[in-house]
Amino acid sequence: MFDDVAERYDLTNTVLSFGQDRSWRRSTRAALGLRPGERVLDVGAGTGVSTRELAHSGAYAVGADLSLGMLYAGKRARPEVPLLAGDALRLPFADASFDAVTISFALRNVNDTDAALRELARVTRPGGRLVVCEFSTPVNPAFRTVYLSYLMRSLPAVARAVSSNPEAYVYLAESIRAWPDQSALAGRIGAAGWGRVAWRNLTGGVVALHRGIRE
Ligand SMILES: C[S@@+](CC[C@H](N)C(=O)[O-])C[C@H]1O[C@@H](n2cnc3c(N)ncnc32)[C@H](O)[C@@H]1O
Repeated sequence: MFDDVAERYDLTNTVLSFGQDRSWRRSTRAALGLRPGERVLDVGAGTGVSTRELAHSGAYAVGADLSLGMLYAGKRARPEVPLLAGDALRLPFADASFDAVTISFALRNVNDTDAALRELARVTRPGGRLVVCEFSTPVNPAFRTVYLSYLMRSLPAVARAVSSNPEAYVYLAESIRAWPDQSALAGRIGAAGWGRVAWRNLTGGVVALHRGIRE
């Protein structure tokens, strides 16, 4: 599915999120608290748009993704970003290789969420940081109703105009609706080897940043 959306992925994201994706990426970088020279892994990096944002911190940022189509599109758009083929469930890195790991809008897409969270912990050094940036549940009930209507009705219609594979955006809407809310996801992160788990809502909870420390 991601191979098919790769070509216009970056543009479609920005249109469907009303440009909010850029500020969500900046907040993810800030939440990681990266220092120059640290090593950070961006899992489910896709076209590397999330990885490039991390590199602005001065840390060494590398992206890994399962879709060769996304990786090729990323290589063309931003050849300076290091991107590797790799499965979130079996990362091609030794234990404790990274000071920090992150996954943006991709944990929802991995087949086994809990196994992916454990695998992220495996490649992070003790005391290292995790930030999960993912769609979540808006906290205000009135806004939640409006948002869910946008998600299920307008978003697929807009995607038909801009995306190379509109069907993928029907899946996007459905997968967001089925995803655990902030508190449930925090519990799963805590059960997968991460301590001091907390979250912060962005755009009223449309997106949540969950963080944890490798125990
Ligand atoms: C919505 S994109 C997010 C890309 C990027 N992180 C961003 O913020 O724009 C989700 C990505 O997760 C990747 N993905 C899904 N399952 C994966 C897995 N098991 N291992 C690695 N990447 C995976 C897809 O190939 C896709 O590129």
